[in-house]
Order: sequence, then structure tokens, then C-alpha cells
Amino acid sequence: MSNDKSDKQLRSQAWFGRQDKMGFYYRSFLKNSGTPQDRFEGRPVIGICNTWSELTPCNAHFRVIAEHVRQGVLDAGGYPLEFPVSSLGEVTMRPTAMLFRNLASMDVEEAIRAHPLDGVVLLMGCDKTTPALLMGAASADLPAIGVSGGPQLRGVYRGQIIGSGTNIISMSEQLRAGEITLKEFHEAEAGMNRSAGSCMTMGTASTMASMVEALGIGLPENAAIPAADARRNLLARMAGRRIVEMVNEDLKPSDILTRQAFENAIRTLAAIGGSTNAVVHLLAIAGRVGVELSLEDFDRLCRDVHCLVDLMPSGRFLMEDFYYAGGLPAVLRALGERGLLHKDARTVNGKTLWNNVAEAPNYNAEVITPFETPFKTEAGIAILNGNLAPNGAVIKPSAASPELMNHTGRAVVFESVEEMHDAVDDDNLDIDASCIMVLKNCGPKGYPGMAEVGNMPLPAKVLRQGVRDMIRISDARMSGTAYGTVVLHVAPEATVGGPLALVKNGDMITLDVPGRRLHLHVSDEELAARRAAWTPPKPHADRGYQKLYIDHVLQADRGVDFDFLVGRTGSPVPRDNH
Ligand code: FES
Repeated sequence: MSNDKSDKQLRSQAWFGRQDKMGFYYRSFLKNSGTPQDRFEGRPVIGICNTWSELTPCNAHFRVIAEHVRQGVLDAGGYPLEFPVSSLGEVTMRPTAMLFRNLASMDVEEAIRAHPLDGVVLLMGCDKTTPALLMGAASADLPAIGVSGGPQLRGVYRGQIIGSGTNIISMSEQLRAGEITLKEFHEAEAGMNRSAGSCMTMGTASTMASMVEALGIGLPENAAIPAADARRNLLARMAGRRIVEMVNEDLKPSDILTRQAFENAIRTLAAIGGSTNAVVHLLAIAGRVGVELSLEDFDRLCRDVHCLVDLMPSGRFLMEDFYYAGGLPAVLRALGERGLLHKDARTVNGKTLWNNVAEAPNYNAEVITPFETPFKTEAGIAILNGNLAPNGAVIKPSAASPELMNHTGRAVVFESVEEMHDAVDDDNLDIDASCIMVLKNCGPKGYPGMAEVGNMPLPAKVLRQGVRDMIRISDARMSGTAYGTVVLHVAPEATVGGPLALVKNGDMITLDVPGRRLHLHVSDEELAARRAAWTPPKPHADRGYQKLYIDHVLQADRGVDFDFLVGRTGSPVPRDNH
């Protein structure tokens, strides 16, 4: 074994290096699985942090991935120990998996710190598992490497390619209209999710897997190798080998997750047309490592970047196609060649980001379009400010309608998501296509958990007129598989008394995306009078985790993390209990 560190330098030796009563305990109990003594004698102990769960179907293959990581750790002379942490299934958890992201991050951070670990491999896939593990590992700051579970194979139903989320809405409408049978509907369900892995559109899971690669905290090609492809297992094995070296090099998340890395990730987010959810997740991860990052950074950095990948939900192809076309390395190379990448940013494999991607091929210019003839020129995330969103709001212009990008309309206000659902199909609702739908009380504290309800369904009577998009404004989030002219993440949220709380039916609102403005045409005097009459809604919980969440969650412009989790604690060896 070629450890650069002496045994005494390994953190795990505070447990396993003791030749006393406690050393007996620590080693003896682990020997109950047949562990030989030499495993305790100076080998880096690598935690395999697993979000496997049958309730998180996107991560249900993670026991296999963990075995390949384990083999890699053994190849390199390390001692692998797999451990479970909270898993967050996007489609199964109610009210929203986002409510539990911070809880899971605490689980990860404390599990890493409490155990005799020298490094950790993070197994993540479904939407919230990725930021949760990165946030926890960043706070603990032991050497860490991210391994995503990979996207599903293309969905196929009766010879047609179908994509996660994106085709569900049209099929459910066909069922309601009697155009397909229930049997056909069930058949399509099985065809959409026909392999292991996460959603195979460029939704939040694939966006965050791309962020892992762009940040340099995962190996090259982490983003796109399908879960069912043997090369996903190979990547896991190589991560297992590499983490042992990283322990010896003492290469920690704080060395990787620098300001430069986040700037690379933000530009990559624009180039892949990624999910708006990445905004809150990147802000939260940056907060854990003490990197100053603001919404304005997203607006500024995204302005020069085109959307290069023609993937659903806004395009034609799926993650499997993206991988065969060259995957994220081809996109990173295109950015680097335009001077849009910090080439020197360090990555977990010990090389710079540019070293990893400088020769990356692009095998299919239809899927990964050239920078000169991009899939979309209006890419990335635009940040809006104004008297309706003093601390910012988010819109994804590439998913919006060009004719609505500068529009003034009459507000139609819903105080809650329930009120919106009750009213939206009522033909007596006073609304037309020029109106602006406003939804309140769906922000971090209001929902709580900031649900993905910002892309409100259009009113039935407007749909019947053939209208397919309207401006919608809320303090909520939006699914990465959704699209439309949707203003999200309005901060401060309505529940804490942000100006959104003061909007009334009939108020005029201007959305001016080119001017980055969101303006409520109501005088300051009138707003002050409305504020004096405003009372906050009753909190959704008065005990338990949800109360903790409501009491401590930060607003969207701060990443929706808990105020007491911002910053890094590191991994000092906890006190002995004897
Ligand atoms: Fe898990 Fe989409 S529901 S990745």
C-alpha cells in the first residue's frame, strides 16, 4: 500500500489505532463480519454514503453501484464501509421532497463526522439527494467524491420515444379526453420508466448530475452515462479507487468547491438549459463552503451563454442521446473554447477541468449543437428585480414565450395552491390570456418546502381558446421538466410579508425580462396601507421538524438552507464516550 499519510494522520486511526479498551470495541465489533486485522492498520476508511431506497425508485439500483465503489476502494487498498442516509424520492414524498433536503443534509454531515471515516463516496440520483449529499459533505469537509446513479434509458411506448414528466401531461389529457384507454395508459407508464435510473430528460436530477461534473466534485462523464450502461458501474469503481488517493492527498470539498467552480457550474447550467431548481441548490452548497454567491451572479454569468443541448423538456432528445453524443465533456469543451470556463478549476481526479475536457469529442451536432448555431440563444437563468421582488425572482427565458417577455397585464390572484386548483377550471373565473396569474404562500415557509407548483395549469376557458402560455408569478419552484413563462422564487415570499402578499385582483403588473424588472403598478402609499392591514397566515406546523424548518429556513435568494447550517464545521474527531 502506498499511503502518503502516516497512520497517525488518518482520522480513522483515532478509533482503530488505539490499543486499549476502546480500540478493542471499535475493531472487535467490525470484526463480526469477518474483517481481518490489517484493515485497521493504516488503511484509509472510505464511507459509501448510500441513498438507496425502494421508496426512491430512481436510486433503487444503488446497492449495485455501491458494490462497484467497494471494489474500487479495495483495489486501491482502502477499507470500504457502506452506510445509509435519508433518501428523498421526488415522486413519492409529500408534501414535497424539498422540505426534507436540509434534514437529509444534516443526516449526511453528522454521519460523516460521527464515524471513523477518512473519505466518502456520495451516491446520489433523484433530484434532492444530490444537493443534500453535497451540502452535508461540504460542511463536514472530508475528502468526498460524488457518483450519480445515471439517467434511465429512453422511454419507449409503442415505438415512440417518450421522456420523463414531459409526456405524462399530454397522455393524461388524452386519457381524460377518451383518446386512449386505461390499459394503454398503464402500458405507457411501464414504457416510460423501463430501466433503473433517474428521469432521463434534462430535469432537475440530470441538471444536478451535470452540476456535480461541472463543479469538479464528480468524475468526467458523471452526468450522462445511463444507469443501465456498464460504464456507470465502471465510473463507480474508478471513484472508489480515486477516493483512496484523495484521502492521501487530503483533497477536500473546500479545495474543489471554489468560487471558480461555482461560476463554471452556473455557465454550464445555461449551456444545458438546466432546471431552475439548480439555482437554490447551488446557492445552498456555496453557503456551506463559504463561497459568496448571489442571484446576480446567475444573471451576469448566464448572459453570454447559449443553450447547446437539444434535450427535453424544451428540446427533442434524452439523456441517453446526450451521452452517445459526447455528454457534458463536449459541452464543457465548447464553453472553454469560448473563454467561458475557468480552466484551472481543480477536480476530484486531480486534474484541472480543462485537462479533463480539452479533447472531448462531439459525436452528434444535432444533440450538442455548435456554439455558432446553438439550439437556443436565449439561455440560462434571468434574475428579475423590482418592487414585487425586492430580493429577486427567477425566470428561465429558454422555456418562456418570446411574445410575453415584455408584457403588462391584470393580476388574477390566488392566496393558496388549493384556491388556485378550485378556481382554475371555473368558467366564472374573471381571466383572459392577457392576465397574469399570481400565486401566493408557496414559498419556503409558506408551503412549507417551496413546492413545485409555480407552473400553474392554465384556466380551462383560456385553454379552449387555444392559448398555451400565460405569465405566472409565484414564490414557488417549478419542476425541471416543466416550461412556460413562469416567474419563480419571488423573494421575500408572501408568507413573511413580501410585496407578493400585497397584490390584489385587478392590480397591473409588468414583466420586463430584457430590463430584468418585475413591477407592481401600485403606489408606495397604497402598499403601505395594505401592509398595515396584512396579517400573516397561520403556520402549517407548530411542532417537530416542520416547525424547525419554518423557524429557520432562509429565503430562495439564500438557497433555502437553514440559517444555522450555513458555513462549514469540518470533521474534528468527536469526543470519546469513555
Ligand atoms: Fe427521481 Fe425524477 S423522480 S429523478
